[in-house]
Amino acid sequence: MGYAVEVRNLWFRYMLSEEWVLRDLSLAVEEGEFIVIMGPSGCGKSTLLYILSGIIPNMIRGEVKGEIKILGRDIRGLKPEEITRSVGFVFQNPDSQLIMPTVLEEVVMGLENLGLDRGEILGRAREILSYVGLDKKSNMPPRSLSAGEKQLLAIASVLAMRPRILILDEPTSMLDHVGTMKVLSLIESLKKNLGITVIVVEHRIEWAVEIADKIAIMDRGTVVAYGEPSKIFSNPELIKKTGVRPPMISEVFYELIDRGVKVNRIPITTKEGIEELRRLLGRSAKPGTLT
Ligand SMILES: Nc1ncnc2c1ncn2[C@@H]1O[C@H](COP(=O)(O)OP(=O)(O)OP(=O)(O)O)[C@@H](O)[C@H]1O
Ligand SMILES: [Mg+2]
Repeated sequence: MGYAVEVRNLWFRYMLSEEWVLRDLSLAVEEGEFIVIMGPSGCGKSTLLYILSGIIPNMIRGEVKGEIKILGRDIRGLKPEEITRSVGFVFQNPDSQLIMPTVLEEVVMGLENLGLDRGEILGRAREILSYVGLDKKSNMPPRSLSAGEKQLLAIASVLAMRPRILILDEPTSMLDHVGTMKVLSLIESLKKNLGITVIVVEHRIEWAVEIADKIAIMDRGTVVAYGEPSKIFSNPELIKKTGVRPPMISEVFYELIDRGVKVNRIPITTKEGIEELRRLLGRSAKPGTLT
């Protein structure tokens, strides 16, 4: 399979700004991959997502240098509507995306722009609303939904257009625990059921290591680490430098290594942590102490 997104030596600065916000950034995402992007506030995560979805330069201006390909095609050769068709974008704050009087119309609106016939539009809208669990609220105004439901609706409106790439910018940061769990499990189901490429900025590291094919860590406008979660977090020196919090269980093992404990591998999930602890204790502890 080819690349969904291919970025090489990307530089970007906002209009009227001297400072380059993205600096020689490269990132290649294969079709069907699930990528989580992390990094400190202001490092350029949203800016990168805006470029991949065409928001920059179509809505926000600035100077772009470098190569950007979406599904193998140079983004500069694509019309805004061609980008929208391939790349769905979900904002941090669902309120900025929801403008129609009812939940159903919210989903229908995006589909109308695709030039489909009425039957197909309604069919798709109902299907996606039931997929995200909002079918019973079709006729309610979006403002009456909970924050979590609003975000589910924003995601549904984008999914209805059947993009091959879905980009989400901190989709749970405005949500409470219940809303967060609903949105995260919806995103997980996309990976399992739809096989679309997902690129998400999300700070919940314990969730990210379970679901991501690859994690990209950004710092000061560039990608400083990119790879499978186990590979990323098996390098404590790198992780400490980036300012990203590793999974709690990995941190425990960094400490153990510092104290001279020999470990086989640095676990990134609780399950792996328990296995590794069992192995370590198996040597010194009495049998049955950690079973
Ligand atoms: N429209 C704009 N004009 C000028 N500078 C901007 C604009 N938007 C963002 N910036 C600057 O670009 C840099 C990167 O911002 P960006 O929003 O991409 O970071 P981020 O990693 O998404 O941060 P956060 O985690 O807080 O969302 C910041 O220094 C920010 O102040
Ligand atoms: Mg941001």
